Amino acid sequence: MDLMQAVTDVQAPAFEALEPRLYLEDDVLKAEQRLIFERTWQLIGHVSALPRPGSYTTGFAGSQPVLVVRDALHGLRAYRNVCRHRASCLLTGSGQCKGAIRCRYHGWTYRFDGTLIGVPEGLQFGERLDKTALGLLPVRVEELCGLLFVNLDPDAAPLADMTGDLPKRLERYRIAELEPFAPGGGYQPANWKVVAENYLEGYHIPIAHPGLMRMLDYKHYDTELHEHYVWIEAPMRAKPSSNRLERLYAQLVTPMPGLAEEDRCTWRYVFIYPNTTIDLYPDHVNTWQMLPEGIGRTRDVFAGYRSPRSGPRTRAVQWINQRLNTLVLKEDIDLVRGVQLGLRARGYRCGPLSRREHAVGWFADRIRADLEQD
Ligand code: FES
Ligand SMILES: [Fe+2]
Repeated sequence: MDLMQAVTDVQAPAFEALEPRLYLEDDVLKAEQRLIFERTWQLIGHVSALPRPGSYTTGFAGSQPVLVVRDALHGLRAYRNVCRHRASCLLTGSGQCKGAIRCRYHGWTYRFDGTLIGVPEGLQFGERLDKTALGLLPVRVEELCGLLFVNLDPDAAPLADMTGDLPKRLERYRIAELEPFAPGGGYQPANWKVVAENYLEGYHIPIAHPGLMRMLDYKHYDTELHEHYVWIEAPMRAKPSSNRLERLYAQLVTPMPGLAEEDRCTWRYVFIYPNTTIDLYPDHVNTWQMLPEGIGRTRDVFAGYRSPRSGPRTRAVQWINQRLNTLVLKEDIDLVRGVQLGLRARGYRCGPLSRREHAVGWFADRIRADLEQD
């Protein structure tokens, strides 16, 4: 597709990569926490974790611990995951509270609406205890097609305003109705932006991912830019792969309920700025959150979602898909490690970006704009 056609509702990116120092200096990471991770919508989980009042899940918006709980009226509430007494983290993982959120340290208790309602041996605090001033610290929370996002910035635009037509595009995958399977995680030896940029371009596929190259129709690998997200279409090749497992995948895969026959032959990748991805496969959906853990280290949080009605054949297909994509991830980890090392080389100036890398330019423009707010 011609670049100008592909750039649908955003200005053409500047085609300038970020300068190396932005991947290497600790003060950049600090600025990013403040100007990017504490101001943007951050993926925290899936609605299946919150079926009833008191159900909760936890996660991170950048470095900041956050919890989301279903309140007594079935609404979503999110808070900083910290007790107002002496800072214990209140909840871990996902689960069910009995009636209230109770801190495991000294037992302070909060209603799901955040009000502090119980302090053991409260009289020992004397006059110093004003319960009304010690409620949980609220955080914004919104749902996008079954996925929960939080935002630490009270003034941020609503997620629904930012994602435009994305909910419509995701609709037929029925993500809210899927059930979680195969959660995973790990680390990548590179700055989170190197990891994101690697996701955003397919230019490296012919060289670095022989398996993907056999499966995907590289000529028609298409990256579409939107204001806050990137949509990548990766149609599968009609010609059967020479690799047995890849061939088996293509033969056995059937589309999930809600999907059309044409969806059977396309892998789609969605990148929501700044650090969330949603991989839309015909057989399952996978989400990935990239969290910086130091200037040269990124923590991955993965979650798979599949139809609760997946039979043995579809489960086998999902297993094959995950095996194939685990190999792709290994190849990518090796690539980003190489980039992070190379970025240290004195004398390197940003090289030019190809049209196939226009989403890297888009990402760089967004990062530059956010960092300039300082
Ligand atoms: S830190 Fe939570 S009750 Fe003390
Ligand atoms: Fe890759």
